[in-house]
Amino acid sequence: MKKGLSIRNISVLISLFFILLLFLIFAIFSPSTLEVSLLVALFLLIIISTLLLLRYERKIEHNEIKEVIKRIRGNQYNSSGEISLSKNLRELEDEIKAMFNRTQSDIQNLKKLEQIRTEFLGNVSHELRTPIFSIQGYIETLLDGALEDPRVNRAFLQKANNHTLNLNNLLNDLIDISMIESGQMKMSFRYFNIHELLKMLETEFKLETEKKNLVLSVHSPNPKLDLYGDKQRLKQVLSNLVTNAIKYTETGSIEIGVIEEGSCGLVYVKDTGLGIPEADISRIFERFYRIDRDRSREMGGTGLGLAIVKHIIEAHDSKIEVSSKLGLGSKFVFKLKK
Ligand SMILES: Nc1ncnc2c1ncn2[C@@H]1O[C@H](COP(=O)(O)OP(=O)(O)OP(=O)(O)O)[C@@H](O)[C@H]1O
Ligand SMILES: [Mg+2]
Repeated sequence: MKKGLSIRNISVLISLFFILLLFLIFAIFSPSTLEVSLLVALFLLIIISTLLLLRYERKIEHNEIKEVIKRIRGNQYNSSGEISLSKNLRELEDEIKAMFNRTQSDIQNLKKLEQIRTEFLGNVSHELRTPIFSIQGYIETLLDGALEDPRVNRAFLQKANNHTLNLNNLLNDLIDISMIESGQMKMSFRYFNIHELLKMLETEFKLETEKKNLVLSVHSPNPKLDLYGDKQRLKQVLSNLVTNAIKYTETGSIEIGVIEEGSCGLVYVKDTGLGIPEADISRIFERFYRIDRDRSREMGGTGLGLAIVKHIIEAHDSKIEVSSKLGLGSKFVFKLKK
């Protein structure tokens, strides 16, 4: 039944042939009443057998489809190529294959998401454990007698306090990430003066850079330049980038600036710091990714800063780009509409 003429086609052909024959008999022989009755009876017989044959064929097709669905439900196919129905059902076969492929890719995505979720929870617990253990350690030491020792008591309390600050930063970053990823972070886009924002950042970070003997400068030749975006969120982006620049630069300078280019403004943060190895450049925007884990953690970093930066810039329909040379420095750039 899969190849050549199907029962349906054969039945239709036989019926057509008999109708034609009936016409010929009437036209050529002008048959008597008895002959006409016989012919009509024969014709009805053929029609009925054709209908029965068609019903039989439909039942076979029906069973075929049922079998395929049963196999899909039982996970018996490895790929859509294994699904096969008879020739009459080719269109349905294509639809079932498309549906199968779609379901497979949905399942793959769900598995991937599940894996990401598990990894994320693992990372979060790991990151929480470090400061909590440290705080616990200092408090226990203080309770065990160090509280009475004026040489260490303040220092231990100060360290415990620093860890609570790290914990607080981590929780804030986690809240931001989850708000952004669940689409709950509300953005408010409007034109703002980029010059003012860069100057504000310069004032905020001046002390920190001076403490490390770094030179912080602003390049903003047009004080009237307005760019389009969420000023508060972009301030968060630039603060993250400048904080990184300070953290990962031992000597030299940091420059924040904007360059007009056609209908856009290119905003950048540039440093003369450690630089980023080429193999890590594509990964630094991943959550919890740090090039030198221990070093970053020592500085209170959790590797969420750039993941937040990337999300916020993408919410502006833009992209954050990095160029970096190991030992020479890094530059982070993104475009905003003018
Ligand atoms: N300007 C930079 N120079 C050199 N390395 C950088 C620079 N910015 C980021 N990195 C590298 O990329 C990693 C990821 O940066 P990210 O800001 O996401 O995390 P973090 O600074 O370690 O922690 P967090 O920002 O969450 O406090 C850093 O750990 C660091 O190794
Ligand atoms: Mg950072």
